[in-house]
Amino acid sequence: MKLGFIGTGKIASSVITGICTSKIYFKKIIISRRNKHISQKLKKRFRKVSIAKTNQEIVDKCNWVFLAVTPKVGKKILPKLNFRSNQKIISFISTISLAQLKKIVKKKTKIVRAIPLPPISLGKGPVPICPPDKQVKFFFNKIGTTVEIKSERSSKNFWAISGMMAPFYEILKVLANWLVKRGIKRNEAQKYITSLFVALSQDSVINSQKHLKYLVAESQTPGGLNELGVKELKRSGFYKSLEKSLNSILKRLSKV
Ligand SMILES: NC(=O)c1ccc[n+]([C@@H]2O[C@H](COP(=O)([O-])OP(=O)(O)OC[C@H]3O[C@@H](n4cnc5c(N)ncnc54)[C@H](OP(=O)(O)O)[C@@H]3O)[C@@H](O)[C@H]2O)c1
Repeated sequence: MKLGFIGTGKIASSVITGICTSKIYFKKIIISRRNKHISQKLKKRFRKVSIAKTNQEIVDKCNWVFLAVTPKVGKKILPKLNFRSNQKIISFISTISLAQLKKIVKKKTKIVRAIPLPPISLGKGPVPICPPDKQVKFFFNKIGTTVEIKSERSSKNFWAISGMMAPFYEILKVLANWLVKRGIKRNEAQKYITSLFVALSQDSVINSQKHLKYLVAESQTPGGLNELGVKELKRSGFYKSLEKSLNSILKRLSKV
């Protein structure tokens, strides 16, 4: 199978790295020239990656075509491309709906929207896909965890949560800065914090079948530090503001 990527930016490069370092069987990955620096780097790193001269060449040569450009660029370049009905289009484009894509593509090509996230380069993280598709599900399960979603409306809720990646890192940064201010070397501070949070994340994945309230409860000793931590943060409105921020992100997504 030949895989094509139109748009070689942050997310395409993460997905391509994930594919090339996984057990997925494929013949070739053909990518667009842009971004020039990223495409050259991927070609150098992975033997099966080649760079196409035009976006149409990618469409012509590939069985699956991944759309990894921004919505603005997508609206400009996609109508000019000639897709085939026997190929599959997987769109990462945040704000172009399935109905709009179908209109742009014109052919009866199978279109699936997917929301991979940068840790896919490590073979980790959720990949919501809509509508459900067996082959695409199987594919992303090799480099992450596919979540099949029936309605596009519902997929926006998952998309909103993905806006919490930078806030998550910001929390790590604030914690590290706090330790540094207290005289701890930055690399020691960051080592402690990142290994603590990776351990907590792994534990939560193992326990993800049961309600998360049990992890919250089990990690607190009555009268202990964690009890104080949750109490203080609740009192200051930290968790309420988390919910508020999610609502704002969802509101923005609902406008498109
Ligand atoms: N980043 C994420 O975590 C993430 C996750 C899921 C979905 N998405 C979605 O995926 C899409 C891409 O996001 P991104 O973060 O990867 O953006 P990005 O880093 O800006 O990548 C977009 C790429 O498109 C290229 N491009 C511009 N014009 C082009 C053209 N005419 N033909 C081919 N390629 C062209 C750009 O090249 P130049 O640099 O040369 O302009 C750039 O490499 C967006 O719709 C975004 O919403 C992103």
